Amino acid sequence: MKKVLITGSSSGIGKATAELFLKNDVPVVGIARQHKKFIHKSKLYEPIEADLSLIESLPKLITTILQEHPDIDVFIGNAGYGDFQSIENFSANQIRNFLNLNLISHITLCRFIVSHMKYEKNGTIFFIGSESGLVGKKKGTLYSAAKFGLRGFCQALRDEVATSGIRVCLLNPGFVRTPFFESLNFEPKETETNAIEPEDIAKIILDLLHTRIGTNIDEVNLSPTTKSLNFKPVKKET
Ligand SMILES: NC(=O)c1ccc[n+]([C@@H]2O[C@H](COP(=O)([O-])OP(=O)(O)OC[C@H]3O[C@@H](n4cnc5c(N)ncnc54)[C@H](OP(=O)(O)O)[C@@H]3O)[C@@H](O)[C@H]2O)c1
Repeated sequence: MKKVLITGSSSGIGKATAELFLKNDVPVVGIARQHKKFIHKSKLYEPIEADLSLIESLPKLITTILQEHPDIDVFIGNAGYGDFQSIENFSANQIRNFLNLNLISHITLCRFIVSHMKYEKNGTIFFIGSESGLVGKKKGTLYSAAKFGLRGFCQALRDEVATSGIRVCLLNPGFVRTPFFESLNFEPKETETNAIEPEDIAKIILDLLHTRIGTNIDEVNLSPTTKSLNFKPVKKET
């Protein structure tokens, strides 16, 4: 692998993955709104500030990134947030903004990345889905809509780009211990078996990249060993 583009690189899974690639001397371009949460001094890291929910701005953003970093051959579509409420609590704007970031931004960026990878006849695309993309549950209507959508997109894309030398892999984690829960009224209990660590996901991504080019790992489902939750007041607004 030559260079990795990660969305949502400032926190959680994206940050852990960026850190692991940098530790292995692989250059990383990272997109997020606020990079002050993760400042890496390495020259191998280029943080780019952008709000990925602004869909109209994405073609210019990604075209510029690919012009400046034509050696990007791995894309990790990871940026996202959770919002778990009864469907009638969401305004039309909240629904649009949620799906913009959690589904449409991934598809839009990928449309340009696929063109680039097809030209290079090489590339690997990862998306961070969720166990909510496998089974829908109450209060998870929007989240499941986005993650099921992402899963369908990945399946069709994998079939479409297979003969162009591009591999597509979807990871579907259960609870991962990250700041994702700061804006929510629940979180996994502190016991280590109650959550996957973001570093576990980073390691799996790196391992998957080392599989023989002829083998595509289509999807990886991961769960914490146990699933106990704490309910709490919300700390952060999204
Ligand atoms: N944690 C879990 O239990 C869990 C489980 C399954 C799947 N996932 C998925 O894993 C992915 C990463 O989540 P995480 O747990 O690592 O959460 P996190 O720690 O909150 O990280 C989310 C990342 O997305 C970025 N982001 C959010 N809104 C953005 C926007 N509008 N434009 C650009 N970047 C934006 C954030 O950066 P800024 O705020 O700086 O923009 C941050 O870097 C998400 O897709 C989530 O659905 C998480």
